[in-house]
Amino acid sequence: MKTLDISNDTTEFEVSAQFSSNGQISESCTREICRLVDTAGFAVVNDLLDSSEADHGLAMMRQHLEDPNREKGDFASQTDMRYGRRDFCPLPSNPDVLSYAATLAQRLQPAIQEYCGVTRKVLEISTMTSYRGASHQYIHRDPDGVLCLFAAVDDVTSEQGGTVFVPGTHKFSGADMMFDGRADFLSRLYQAACNYSILGHNLRTLWSMRKKGTDTLRPGEWKDRVFSTRYDNHQPNIFRFLLGKNSVFSFSPRTLWQIRQHRKTLARYFRTVQTAPRKGTVILYRSDMLHAGPDNRTDRPRYFFGMSIARDIVFEQQWREGYSSHSTLLENPQNFGDLLSYPTESFKPGMEQNHAA
Ligand SMILES: [Fe+2]
Repeated sequence: MKTLDISNDTTEFEVSAQFSSNGQISESCTREICRLVDTAGFAVVNDLLDSSEADHGLAMMRQHLEDPNREKGDFASQTDMRYGRRDFCPLPSNPDVLSYAATLAQRLQPAIQEYCGVTRKVLEISTMTSYRGASHQYIHRDPDGVLCLFAAVDDVTSEQGGTVFVPGTHKFSGADMMFDGRADFLSRLYQAACNYSILGHNLRTLWSMRKKGTDTLRPGEWKDRVFSTRYDNHQPNIFRFLLGKNSVFSFSPRTLWQIRQHRKTLARYFRTVQTAPRKGTVILYRSDMLHAGPDNRTDRPRYFFGMSIARDIVFEQQWREGYSSHSTLLENPQNFGDLLSYPTESFKPGMEQNHAA
């Protein structure tokens, strides 16, 4: 992106998965993951799944994506979903999916339990696939109080849209006192500065797709992504943006002036990093930190297996509006403790090879 400075070096946020003899991550690994989640808001855990486990997850997700009757997610971007740029869909609570989710939960239990008690609800289990031409999401926060997990079941390059994070912007008691007591004001300003860049990036990308002709833009897509007033917070729909109907990002001359006025302070306190997780990597992050799912600039789909677990009680309406749960998960809710006792196929306590401590 021309104006938004994004680093692709995530080394300081990465930790190699090390396992105890019971198959769970080791104590030192747990401490490092929690240190990163607490200080930066996220941790990139390399090699949590081996290659065959990642392949199994990818096959399971692809099989589901081929089902024409699958339930679709209603999370961002809805326009991308309609035009086949993204395929975000909740996964059904069948034994294969629950076993996979349970494998991740059991392996990461020592770290997850630092944030989520055993009675906390599993809010969603989903696939997040993006294809060439997907929009770059605006930088946003998901609803507070949730621990989210992305598992890379295939190698993900930054060009494919590895998630971007703004380290240190998560919420916790006293977080507002950070950055000389101006954390809320400055992080909002930084978010807006990033999103002006992303708006420009999305418009330039769409314009270049339009110039290439109908092979790249589908009928009606240009109008729907640039001029529609239909609800979607992650498209460059300029009417919604100018009218202040986009809850993530709206036009304000005052904000533009403040970004200019505080640009050196913003550069000192904030930065954006983009992950490029290898197959088998799992990213854990606090839902309330600034982050975004970028566009996919390749012909290779980007696949993520996703799971979100509440860190506290969640108001039912917030759950339904903020997360896309499969109807089978709503009918038969699971909590973190249920996943810890669920039988798994690939999770074998005491396994050795590269998973030994
Ligand atoms: Fe998000």
